[in-house]
Amino acid sequence: MRRIAATLTILLATTACQTMPQSGTSAAEGATLAAPILTSPEAVDTLTYAKPQIARVTHVALDLDLDFAARRVAGSAQLSVLAAKDADELILDSNGLLIERITDSAGRDLAFTVGETEVEGGKGAPLSIAIGDARSIRIDYRAPQDASALQWLTPQQTSGGEHPYLFSQGQAILNRTWIPTQDSPGIRQTWEARITAPKPLDVVMSGVQQGEPEDLGDGRRAFRFLMDKPVPPYLIAIAAGDIDFKAIGPRTGVWAEPSVLENAYQEVADTEEMVVAAEALYGEYRWGRYDMIVLPPAFPYGGMENPVMTFLTPTFIAGDRSNNGLVAHELAHSWSGNLVTNAVWGDSWLNEGVTTYFENRIVEAVYGKKRAQQEAALMFANIEEVLGEVGADAPGTALSTEGEYELGSAIAYDKGAFFLLTVENIVGRERFDAWLRQWFDNHAFEPATSEMFYEDMMENLVASEREAKALMLREWIFEPGLPSNVAKPDPSAFSEVDAAVSDYARMQTIPAAYPGWTAAEQMRFLDSVPAELPASQLAALDTALGLSDTGNNEILFLWLEMALENRYEPAVPQAEEFLARVGRAKFVRPLFQVLWDQGDWGRPVAQRIYAKTRDNYHSVTRAGVDRILAAE
Ligand code: BES
Ligand code: ZN
Repeated sequence: MRRIAATLTILLATTACQTMPQSGTSAAEGATLAAPILTSPEAVDTLTYAKPQIARVTHVALDLDLDFAARRVAGSAQLSVLAAKDADELILDSNGLLIERITDSAGRDLAFTVGETEVEGGKGAPLSIAIGDARSIRIDYRAPQDASALQWLTPQQTSGGEHPYLFSQGQAILNRTWIPTQDSPGIRQTWEARITAPKPLDVVMSGVQQGEPEDLGDGRRAFRFLMDKPVPPYLIAIAAGDIDFKAIGPRTGVWAEPSVLENAYQEVADTEEMVVAAEALYGEYRWGRYDMIVLPPAFPYGGMENPVMTFLTPTFIAGDRSNNGLVAHELAHSWSGNLVTNAVWGDSWLNEGVTTYFENRIVEAVYGKKRAQQEAALMFANIEEVLGEVGADAPGTALSTEGEYELGSAIAYDKGAFFLLTVENIVGRERFDAWLRQWFDNHAFEPATSEMFYEDMMENLVASEREAKALMLREWIFEPGLPSNVAKPDPSAFSEVDAAVSDYARMQTIPAAYPGWTAAEQMRFLDSVPAELPASQLAALDTALGLSDTGNNEILFLWLEMALENRYEPAVPQAEEFLARVGRAKFVRPLFQVLWDQGDWGRPVAQRIYAKTRDNYHSVTRAGVDRILAAE
C-alpha cells in the first residue's frame, strides 16, 4: 500500500513558555507542546498568507472592548510566536484591520507592513511584522466597522427589542476581519480573551468563561475566557446581548434572549442525551462543557460548531424537535472538524461529510432507526437532484476539491456521508466504528487531508485486496459523481409518502394522512410533488395542508420555494415577511434566486424586497444575494 508524504511536523514550543502574554489569567500554562502542522503539498492552504514553517502563532490573547454605539471592536492581541532562531518575519492574515502599533514584550516598536488586499474572495492582505528575535508581540488595533465576521444588531433586530446584540461568524476565512492572527485551519492556536461590554449585556465565547464578570464601575463589565486546547482560529467566536442561560444536563445548557429561552430550551432538551450517545459511538467528549446559544434570526447559518458554545439559528425551533438533527450535527463536529480538522478548505468534506454521517448515527441512537433512515433518504435525494442538474460526472462533484465547494450541501455533506455509510455497509458497523474512533483519537487536535484519510483507511481498516476493490475508496474521494457501490437508502423509508406522491401526481389527491406525518415525511412530499402546479392546486395544497401557517421554517421554506417557482401571487407577501424575518442564507439565497429566475415577474419583486431587507442580513447572506441580483 502506497505511502504518502503527509508528514507531521512536530516542533517543541519551548519558547512559548517564556513568552506567555502578561494580560491573561492562566495563559495556557500547559501549552509546552505546540500543535503540529502539516507540510505535505496537498496540505498547503492557499487562503492564508501565513508561512507557518518559518514562524507561527501558538497562542492568542485578546483584550477587546465592544463599543455598540460606534460598532467598534478595539484593543489588543498578544501573540506567542514559535519560530526558528534566525526567523525574523511573521506573516499574519488581515482583512481591513486598522493596526495602530505593534510592539515587543519590552514595549519597543516593531516595523510592519500591510500588503495589497486581494479584492475578490475575502483573502485580505498579508500583515508582515519584522519580529527580530521577539517571540511575544502585541498588536494594538481595531476591527473595521464593516468587519464581515461581525454583525451588530440594533435593539429592533432582537426579539427583546431593548438592547443591541453582536455576534461573529468565523468560518471559513472571516475571522481575519476582527482578529490579527494566522487564519488557517491547519494552524492551531490556544487562546484567551478579556472582553469589556456595557451593562447589562452578557458575553459568551467559544472558550470557557473564567470566573464571574468584573464590574468596572463605569457601566461596563469585563469577561474572561480561555481555550486551553489548540484550535484552528476559525473557531474563535463571540456573542454579546441581553441573554440568559438555562441548564439542560450536568455539562450542557442553552443561552438565548429571555423571551426565546424557554422555547429554545424545549427544542434542545435532548442535548445531554445526544452527548452521551456521541461518546458511546466515538469516544470521550474532550471539551468539557457543551453549551449552545440560540441567536437572533439574522444568524446566517443553521448552526456553527464553535467549541463549548455551538451557535444556532432560532429558525430551527419547530416546537417538536424535528429539526434538531442540527444540534446532533454541530455536536458531532466536536470530533469531526474541531478535534480532527481539514487542513485546507478544499477538503471540507472531512469536516462536513464525516459530521453528517456522525449526525445521522446520533439521530439513530436518540430517535431511532426510522427517523435516521428518513433523514438519510432526504440527503440521498439531494445528491441525486444536484447530480441531475450539473451532470453525473461534473467536475466539482469529487469530495476532495481544489477550490471552495459551490454545490450547497450535496457533495461535501451528503456525498461525504454516503461515502461513510457505504464503507460501514461493506465492512460492517463494528469494524467501521472502531476505525472511525481511532481516526479521531490518533489525529485529535491535528489537521488532516483527504490523502491521510485514504491512507489511514488502507492501513487500519481495509483487510484485503478484495475488500479494497469493493470499497472503491479513491473513486469516492477523488473522482466526480456517485460510485457504483453506493449504499442506497432503504426504499421503504418513505413508502407511504411516495405512494401519496404518485396519487397526487395522477389525480391531485391531497393526502389526508399528511398532518400525522413526521416532518421528514412532510418534506419528502413537498420535495416530490410535480414542479409545475397551477394556482388552483397551490391554493388547494395550502388550504388542506396548512402550509403558510406551519410553525416549521424548513417546511415554510419549501412551500414558498414551490409557490414562487410557479409565480403564485398570494405567496409574495408571505415570502416578503419571511425574508424580512430571517437571515439564514440557506433560506434567503434560494428564494431570491427563484424570484430572479422568474424574469419580468420575479425580478422587480426581488429588488423591491431586497431594498428593504439587505441591511438586516449578515455579510455572508448579503454576499450571496448580491451575486444573484447582480447577474444578468
Ligand atoms: N460548519 C458549518 C457551517 C459553515 C459551513 C460555515 C461552511 C461556514 C462555511 C455547520 O456545521 C453546518 O454545517 N451548518 C449547517 C447545519 C446542517 C447541515 C444540519 C447549516 O448551517 O445549515
Ligand atoms: Zn457542519
